[in-house]
Amino acid sequence: MGFPEGFLWGGATAANQFEGAFLEDGKGWSTADTARYTKLDDPTKFSLLQPMTTADVAFAQADQDGIYPKRYGIDFYHRYQEDIALFAEMGFKTFRLSISWPRIFPNGDELEPNEAGLQFYDKVFDECLKYGIEPLVTLSHYEFPLGLALKHNGWESRETIAHFERYARVVFNRYKDKVKYWLTFNEINIIGMTGYLSGGILADKTDHLLQAQYQAAHHQFLGSALAVKACHEIIPDAKIGNMLARMEAYPETSNPNDVMESIYADHTNLFYSDVQIRGYYPAYMDKFFKKHQIVIQKEAGDDQLLREGTVDFMSFSYYMSSIASSDTEGEETAGNLLGSKKNPYLKSSDWGWQIDPVGLRVTLHKLYDRYQVPLFIVENGLGAKDVVEEDGSIHDDYRIDYMRDHIQEMALAIEEGVDLMGYTPWGCIDLISASTSEMSKRYGFIYVDQDDEGNGTLARSKKDSFEWYKKVIATNGADI
Ligand code: BG6
Repeated sequence: MGFPEGFLWGGATAANQFEGAFLEDGKGWSTADTARYTKLDDPTKFSLLQPMTTADVAFAQADQDGIYPKRYGIDFYHRYQEDIALFAEMGFKTFRLSISWPRIFPNGDELEPNEAGLQFYDKVFDECLKYGIEPLVTLSHYEFPLGLALKHNGWESRETIAHFERYARVVFNRYKDKVKYWLTFNEINIIGMTGYLSGGILADKTDHLLQAQYQAAHHQFLGSALAVKACHEIIPDAKIGNMLARMEAYPETSNPNDVMESIYADHTNLFYSDVQIRGYYPAYMDKFFKKHQIVIQKEAGDDQLLREGTVDFMSFSYYMSSIASSDTEGEETAGNLLGSKKNPYLKSSDWGWQIDPVGLRVTLHKLYDRYQVPLFIVENGLGAKDVVEEDGSIHDDYRIDYMRDHIQEMALAIEEGVDLMGYTPWGCIDLISASTSEMSKRYGFIYVDQDDEGNGTLARSKKDSFEWYKKVIATNGADI
């Protein structure tokens, strides 16, 4: 059993969940800045999947009393040196972060970038490279310039493509000597679902939301293809991948109808990677579009562009598996933005996400069989409530167990022939939850002293998993 030489061990983050520095140095509003924290008795019930409206935006922009944790994050913007030093101490080979698009183009449609924003990422990438850490950069991770949402209804408008391409070209040119690994859109299959994430779609501006969401996906596919082409042209030695929230859905029983349901679930999920990796729309979507009266507006040249702009590798997040069933009865459980029926063979996290390490191997095989391109697990991990002991220590053995089990399955998949490039567990340093805006849903090896309301010193400290992961990396996965 062994991981290949040069395997990219590291950790993952996103600008909107950890940078803070809201509107600082010329940054504009992002859709994520309007996500309000609400205290909930049952965190499994909260979902960010409610559509976003113009009224919601106006409310958030005027609100003086609410808590908006994604505006302050964990203040990485001012503490990046300390944080990257800790990543280096763990031996990270790579560090996944995203660039905040509205930090570079505050409204999204300016012709010239914000120099102060560009300088910030120069400093961050230089700091990584100082320790030999390869930055792995997502162009758009769950945030979108609010200006473009209000003006063009986000990705529903074709005009957004040109603004995105300009942004992508600016950052490729600026960081061409510093960044060799890129991702286009984080969890592209989730983006269309709510304006709060990266779609920027305001529900009141459309009378057919599903049509708007799939039209937005089409525009993102084109934006992705243009970014891939620009990346290859500007940084010939770089690799650029897509990013999917992988939802592995098992048939509930051997009932053939359940098996069909799992195939349909794959279609819903893999539609996005099918387009970004194979370069064309899969035939199975025709029926879906017809059923929901969706007509994708395409222009001449779109299909050609999709064929030309296929990605070099596939990256994905994997937190859990789910159940596909022809029987709608049965107990439900929460999940990574989407819920599912309960699987009696699996345990769940405190937030109801079903923990399934073998499911990761199942998914690695399925994706590699289907696409035959290198795979990269760019998110995985356990959101949990950590307890700080009197002496300051944090014994997160549950997190170590979760990761050990998943890493073992990765090793088996590699042994069984899967080409896996790397592993960047989510939230390597505690940060704001994407779905609930909580701070207490922690994923990190590094603890950050801050509560759900934003109180705390922001001091960083090492959990037990810090030393454990350091050892995993030092032995290239041999000692787990
Ligand atoms: C993924 C996202 O869906 O899951 C991350 O790409 C997110 O941005 C992560 O933080 C974990 O989800 P949550 O809701 O627990 O933060």
